[in-house]
Amino acid sequence: MKIRFVKSIDDLKKKKDFTEVILKEKIKQSRFVVKSGREILEVKTEERKKINRRKWIILVRGIIRLAKSYGVEKIVLNWDELIDFPNLEKNNLGQLFAEATEMANYDFRKYKKKPKEGWRDVKEIVLVSQQSGRELSDLKKAIQKGQMVAKRINYARELANISGGDLTPKKLVSEIRKIIKGTKIKMKVLGEKEMKKIKMNGVLAVGQGSKEQSQFIILEYKNAKQTTDKPTVLVGKGVTFDSGGIDTKPHPHGLEMMMDMSGAASVLSTLLAVNDLEVKKNVVVLIPAVENMPSGSSMRPGDVIKMYNGLNVEIGHTDAEGRLILADALAYAKKFKPERVIDVATLTGAASVALGTKATAMLTRDDELAQEAEKVAESTGDYIWRLPLWEEYEGDIAGERGDIANINTKAKPGDGSTITAGIFLWNFSKEYDSWMHLDIAPRMTADPNEQLSKGAAAPAVRLLVKMLEK
Ligand code: BES
Ligand code: MN
Ligand code: ZN
Repeated sequence: MKIRFVKSIDDLKKKKDFTEVILKEKIKQSRFVVKSGREILEVKTEERKKINRRKWIILVRGIIRLAKSYGVEKIVLNWDELIDFPNLEKNNLGQLFAEATEMANYDFRKYKKKPKEGWRDVKEIVLVSQQSGRELSDLKKAIQKGQMVAKRINYARELANISGGDLTPKKLVSEIRKIIKGTKIKMKVLGEKEMKKIKMNGVLAVGQGSKEQSQFIILEYKNAKQTTDKPTVLVGKGVTFDSGGIDTKPHPHGLEMMMDMSGAASVLSTLLAVNDLEVKKNVVVLIPAVENMPSGSSMRPGDVIKMYNGLNVEIGHTDAEGRLILADALAYAKKFKPERVIDVATLTGAASVALGTKATAMLTRDDELAQEAEKVAESTGDYIWRLPLWEEYEGDIAGERGDIANINTKAKPGDGSTITAGIFLWNFSKEYDSWMHLDIAPRMTADPNEQLSKGAAAPAVRLLVKMLEK
């Protein structure tokens, strides 16, 4: 989408091609009208003083969704008015605007036939503003930045939306090989043979029931002043399809499980954005990629697996597979002597039970990191909410026949299972000074009221990019 500026609406050469967007408080609902030959989108807004940063993001996205619904391709709106709300925090609105418009413009179309009249997308936005000089050039830069980040976010949504059969672990590897061409990102991949050699048995166990080969993907981006600077390591859950395994998911719970690699997609896109923005840091991304399937070769309930770090884990539930592959990746991260480690995973349905569809669950014992993340989340619109990771929970996964179990062995397995999963992961990351777990299951798919197309939402990309920029 093209975004440009003019000083006055009369500066538009082909004024007739543009639909004017006007914000209105007093109408019942948004509408498309034609007045003296000019097309106008009247967008209903709340009382001016009620618009805060959260509502502004939705308002901006709503303009794009509305334009798309009427097949409007070119819009013109007054920027100075659009930001003139008394309770709107003005910091970095250009980037926020670009991210909101690009994200709202995205639809998943891989399996749809193109209509004769073409897709309904917004192709151009003209912003009318009196701003000039430094102010205007900063605003333009912020918009460009937002567009860059959003492009990567939409790419993550695209990957997550693809059916499980069309994006197996190996196909994910080829896809990544393609997308990192021309970037500073280097890739290394461990296949099953290599994983066997180093005893990465958590990853292997989850993938052993599938015909698809498991892959362990290592991406490195080195752009710190010192190449020896300690990196941030991002770990993303890459379950390309989660059937539940032998403890199979009943209908309809399998239907969205092509998106169980959303964590992988989000950390990959974060790294791509970091590359685009030329962030001066070293960043490593680890993606254990597997398919969780039931078959004659699947891991069984009751099996005990010796993990990469030597801990024996008993399988209490084959559908609690994400933590097994993440555990090996988290332990493997030690190789990189990380400054901090953050994992991102669609890990538990319980996170959605607790938070609905509006916030990612965040678990960490690093209060400083937690506070930083909370601040960034609020300003980017990539919301998170903290859950406890207290020592008191550690006993909940005590093993009966092994060291620990992959579910709660002391209470109903469903109770507090987001925390149980976090505690499980903590067993593989306790050596790190700074580690954070993001359970993005609540944000895997878009909330019906957030003015995005249905399907994958690519949570945590805006959050992580901003955290890495600091
Ligand atoms: N991938 C699922 C969690 C999930 C469910 C994410 C729905 C997004 C939407 C995960 O592997 C899983 O199955 N978790 C189980 C754990 C349980 C068996 C302890 C769950 O949450 O039910
Ligand atoms: Mn599962
Ligand atoms: Zn899963």
